Amino acid sequence: MNILGIETSCDETSAAVLNSSLEILSNVVLSQDEIHAPYGGVVPELASRQHIRSIGYVVNESLRRAGLAVRDIDAFAVTQGPGLIGSLLVGLSFAKGLAFYFKKPLIPVDHLEAHIHSAFLENKDIPFPCLALLVSGGHTSLFFLEKKFQSRLIGRTRDDAAGEALDKVAKYLDLGYPGGPVIEQKAEKGNARKFPFALPRMTDQSMDFSFSGLKTAALRTIKRNRITREHPSFYDFLASFQNAVVRALLVNVDLAAKRFSPHALILCGGVARNKKLRRDFSAFAREKKCPDFIPSPELCTDNAAMVAALAVEKINTFGDFPLSLDLNAYPRM
Ligand code: KG4
Ligand code: ZN
Repeated sequence: MNILGIETSCDETSAAVLNSSLEILSNVVLSQDEIHAPYGGVVPELASRQHIRSIGYVVNESLRRAGLAVRDIDAFAVTQGPGLIGSLLVGLSFAKGLAFYFKKPLIPVDHLEAHIHSAFLENKDIPFPCLALLVSGGHTSLFFLEKKFQSRLIGRTRDDAAGEALDKVAKYLDLGYPGGPVIEQKAEKGNARKFPFALPRMTDQSMDFSFSGLKTAALRTIKRNRITREHPSFYDFLASFQNAVVRALLVNVDLAAKRFSPHALILCGGVARNKKLRRDFSAFAREKKCPDFIPSPELCTDNAAMVAALAVEKINTFGDFPLSLDLNAYPRM
């Protein structure tokens, strides 16, 4: 069985082909970074227009690289939400068209579930129950997974996502978009202890995150110290801010680990590409004597392989899916 997955929830147009053994035959990701860079963040209207331009090429390219024709595809999978509604509708409509024309099943996939599932794509035997920290430009959430397909949201951001905070601080310093990778690269040269940032604290014992205060504190520090690219403490500032973001994430993982005693820890989402976060997350897991699972960097950013992989698992668990043309996109969780 071959499955073609489509992902267009934000600003990456992606299509991937997997077989039923979860082997990735192709995973094509076309990024729109250059289009959104002048604005320092994703412009939804531009994103959906670009998806329309790219989707045909990306799907064709995923088939070409897999060495298959569209007739060889046994089922189609597509991200249904959450995400930007215009962007989601491009992928969903395209997938519906394919499934309808070729009379094949269409499997809807939740974007956040797919991000978590990217860890299972490379490690089939992750033990349950486990905790998953999903960190991206749109989401910062903690999930408790009792077993496969049984996840509970136990913490989420009350304002900005961690990636959004990184992107906004980078934008303020004119470092381009996406900000996370630039900050990571420059932070390597800095002293993370130079600027101490107070971490956000929830007063209600919740495991929710908040990055808006940290972002405001960072912008205040930039103004107060007149930090620019030429400032002698430029790299120290970025290292300190990145460190604060990583610590804020791990504080809540620690709370959750104490409360839920998981048998494994998963880190996923675009920000999980960050080397400092990967290192500190693994060190934390070692300290807790709990195995950690972090997907390869290319599976952390939005991609269709994770979408197709989750669809394969759904078919294996629940059986065949009908072709439903009533499927609708949902922008929020
Ligand atoms: O998961 P993703 O590709 O898209 C969303 O669903 O949001 O995540 C994008 C986010 C952006 O905020 C970007 O700055 C961040 O991931 N990011 C990074 C790194 N690479 C991407 N943040 C920190 N370090 C990185 N190396
Ligand atoms: Zn994502």
